[in-house]
Amino acid sequence: MSEIKFNDETLAMVQSIIKRYPEGKQKSALLPLLHLAQAEFNGWLSSPVMDYVASLLNIKPVEVYEVASFYSMYNLKPVGKCLLEVCRTSSCWLRGANEIVEHIENKLGIKDGETTADGKFTLKTVECLGSCGTAPMLQLGADFHENLTFEKVDALISEWSNKAEHSKYLDIDTFRKN
Ligand code: FES
Repeated sequence: MSEIKFNDETLAMVQSIIKRYPEGKQKSALLPLLHLAQAEFNGWLSSPVMDYVASLLNIKPVEVYEVASFYSMYNLKPVGKCLLEVCRTSSCWLRGANEIVEHIENKLGIKDGETTADGKFTLKTVECLGSCGTAPMLQLGADFHENLTFEKVDALISEWSNKAEHSKYLDIDTFRKN
């Protein structure tokens, strides 16, 4: 297995994020570093990747595992090229999120948390994504898709069936600007 290491550009960004915090408080940089790690290492956080992040922050690996396993935006197992995260909280639920999930499950032949055999799609249900006024909604990579209907979901799946690339997990500019 090749050595786990951020590329030079990401590493420079990592160092600038860590420097935003006082000496001894580097752990505060953990969430953005996990986002960067997930983006760079195929959309998920393996134990070696989390160990690497721990070493950059000089904290114990278990401190990284605790955080990464708490938040649904981090994936602890491989995901498909297209990650569909459907909100299932109150507003989305009231406006048909369960039916949307069932529709996706039937269309892709997978259940919540599973990936299609061709590695193309992963379906995940998550808690409120803060877009309650446009429920039901889902996040696909870094993009929100709102006021969902079966037709909109079908169009998304058909669009992504033909793409070779991985959905992006974050807007890297967010970390550059702030
Ligand atoms: S309830 Fe779905 S985005 Fe808030």
